[in-house]
Amino acid sequence: PASARPEADGDVSVGGVSLAEAADRFGTPVYVLDEEEVRERCRAYRTAFPEADVVYAAKAFLSRAVVHWVMEEGLGLDVCSAGELSLAVTTGFPPEKIVMHGNAKSPEDLHAAVRLGVGRIVVDSTSEIARLAAAVPAGTRQQVMVRVVPGIAAGGHAKVRTGTDDQKFGLSITDGSAQHAVARVLGRPGLELVGLHCHIGSQIATAKPYVAAVRRMVGLMARIRRQHGVALPQLDIGGGHAIAYRPGEESLNIGVLAGRIRAELEDGCARADLPVPRLTLEPGRAIVGPAGVAVYRVLAVKRTGEHTFVAVDGGMSDNPRPALYGVRYAPRLVGRPSSAAPRLVTVVGRHCEAGDVLADGVPLPGDVRPGDLLAVPAAGAYHLSMASGYNLVGRPPVVAVSDGRARVLVRRESLDDMSRRDIGL
Ligand code: LLP
Repeated sequence: PASARPEADGDVSVGGVSLAEAADRFGTPVYVLDEEEVRERCRAYRTAFPEADVVYAAKAFLSRAVVHWVMEEGLGLDVCSAGELSLAVTTGFPPEKIVMHGNAKSPEDLHAAVRLGVGRIVVDSTSEIARLAAAVPAGTRQQVMVRVVPGIAAGGHAKVRTGTDDQKFGLSITDGSAQHAVARVLGRPGLELVGLHCHIGSQIATAKPYVAAVRRMVGLMARIRRQHGVALPQLDIGGGHAIAYRPGEESLNIGVLAGRIRAELEDGCARADLPVPRLTLEPGRAIVGPAGVAVYRVLAVKRTGEHTFVAVDGGMSDNPRPALYGVRYAPRLVGRPSSAAPRLVTVVGRHCEAGDVLADGVPLPGDVRPGDLLAVPAAGAYHLSMASGYNLVGRPPVVAVSDGRARVLVRRESLDDMSRRDIGL
């Protein structure tokens, strides 16, 4: 986090709270979230995109406090299940500022969205259009966007590239299914088509693919106007903005992004003689990712012929990203000073798989030993939201830090929590 400060005693503080003290007080592993940084990141988006709707992608990490912060900072919310929706609405989030996504929304998802008054539902298949129309009460109208595949390859990993034709999300321009879906929605009196949506991928570090996506989307909007005589008032270009996980990695500059997108949108619309649509962005990772840090305790150090393995008390159950995407992190020693020469080590988790590896060939002080604390930066997004109950170790707590104070947002999962759903013999 931006507020991380190295202390003279080898410790690091975040939001004015010592990570070693947090580890002692709340146990390890613990996820520390810098509230001010989350808020600051929300504000940075609003400053860079004053003319747009910025909606936070809840899948990155959701808790009641985060819902509240995002609401106070004036953002909307992107949800993709009745579960995320319900958490948000029962925390007091205004439903009209919520966008609902999903390539396979269940009947429960659609009914909850309509019943709770979600602002916009993004339809992702033609069959969904009929199901949604049937769920809308007679005499009312649901605002809808169509998710379009603009045909652009971008994104940090094959598993998070969603802008090209051969993947499960959205409706293709190339084969005409996007145009077909638009006509279908326009033909349903209970649905009001307010715009188009695309999300080309995640962990994208440059503005270029977004500019290309805007160009394609404006092209489609122009075609829709020619064909149907409607100028759609909104364009949602999704999220996907990259953050740095390790020193030297690039993050996406949102000021540059804003300038490039605005220019493309204005030029494109002027050329096509279209009114400029209102823009929506859906950042998730870039809002919470850099604001989080995971703190683990070292349980074992093992030297084999080739490697030094440093094993910590968490792993792929609280952070599945290395196992899923092959990505690596940059842990560092906190809580004590060390002047030992650095040694390249492999930091591994506690789970029963050889692939439970957090970091490979990272330098840690040569005297790293059991009992030490390791802090992992950029842990705020897609760690706990994708956490599992593997090996029944229990999900770690989330602690918010702000102005030198720490408070638990989500408590540690207990053995009781984990066994509650097991009905017994
Ligand atoms: N909008 C839509 C429709 C999305 O599907 C996503 C992410 C976002 C917005 C937010 O993207 P972001 O700004 O957070 O990149 N688990 C993967 C990332 C999966 C992203 C899924 N969709 C990871 O850990 O890298």
